Amino acid sequence: MRELKKGIYEIGALDPTLRVFDIIMTADYGTSYNSYLVKGEKKTALIEACHSKFYDQYLDHIRAICDPKDIDTIVLNHNEPDHTGAMARLLLEVGDATVYTTQSGALFIKAITNDPKIKIQIVRDGDILDLGGKTLQFVTAPFLHWPDSMFTYIKEDEVVFTCDFLGSHYCEPYLYDHKIQDTNAFDHAFKNYYTAIFDPFKPYVLKGLLKLDALTFDMVLPSHGPVLTKGENGQLDQALANYLAWSTIIPREKKCIPIFYTSAYGHTQALAESLAQGVRETVDAEVVTYDIIKHDMAELAHIINHCDGFGIGSPTINRDAVKPVWDLINTIDAINCGKRPFVAFGSYGWSGEGVANLTQRLVGLKCKPIDAGFRNIFTPTEDDLSAIKLLGVALATAVIN
Ligand code: FEO
Repeated sequence: MRELKKGIYEIGALDPTLRVFDIIMTADYGTSYNSYLVKGEKKTALIEACHSKFYDQYLDHIRAICDPKDIDTIVLNHNEPDHTGAMARLLLEVGDATVYTTQSGALFIKAITNDPKIKIQIVRDGDILDLGGKTLQFVTAPFLHWPDSMFTYIKEDEVVFTCDFLGSHYCEPYLYDHKIQDTNAFDHAFKNYYTAIFDPFKPYVLKGLLKLDALTFDMVLPSHGPVLTKGENGQLDQALANYLAWSTIIPREKKCIPIFYTSAYGHTQALAESLAQGVRETVDAEVVTYDIIKHDMAELAHIINHCDGFGIGSPTINRDAVKPVWDLINTIDAINCGKRPFVAFGSYGWSGEGVANLTQRLVGLKCKPIDAGFRNIFTPTEDDLSAIKLLGVALATAVIN
């Protein structure tokens, strides 16, 4: 525990050995679950709680600063269980505390704690709460990265609590950014965290940065990773600049319409090339065919998530498309890829379910199919190649219209 500014204490938990966060996210440098205690002249506020697995340690940290019964205010800027998993037990320990959170945050925390007695005050953008010498200002920040997200600002101390925003899965036993020992590792962790959590929400990141721009602060207190500061070796200005750069979309000169495929005997590959030809003859676009198993999956994931439309081809084995194709589809950011046109295709030998299965899954992700896709038995004929070429024309047309 440390006092960051007068009356503001960090009381969270370090998790240096964590290597996978939330099932899907690598955490090469561990993480931390930061929580803060703010002591005003009239009220004592907890800002964020903690992961349930660190509850005992967390409670000890609170007790080192104050009697938990003195806590009358709990601010939850975001209600994912890595920050609120400890809340159900904590509510039994604290006094007659009121939880301050957004409208959707209220729904989430009720469902996380299943506590019928939880006292909640829903806050709106700009609402303030006087703790006595410390004025909390709530700043809604939806989709950074959940609908419930908000920031909390204390003008007297010039600090902003941003929860996940500007955080990092990075754990050194030094709380401040200017004490980081391995800055290269921190930079890597900071970028990875942004990519995994905020990349799908770039427009919201820009809105959040604008809201921060209206505030005067010299310290950001996120809920993962080091506290960010200004001044010598502080990372705050660079962190804000990075978020702005990474979230600013630079329009491409040409549409990008990649064709992904796998092919056991070259038949699906032939379909891919004809599909690509149909696209090329219709629009001056970047059209590249990718044999999925010959490329790095992260590279392909970036392409499929930033293209304007795509083809995806697979043979059928055991009544389904093959695993590398499913692996690529599993990387699709469903939030931003909705309405993206696609053509599924593939050559097959026996029953040919792969194309229909791919189409169904992509429709489930809200992508937009061009017809029912295309499939043929074994070696594609000239008529087959002409037919899929026409689908290439339709795909290109859908992209530019
Ligand atoms: Fe760190 Fe979205 O929870």
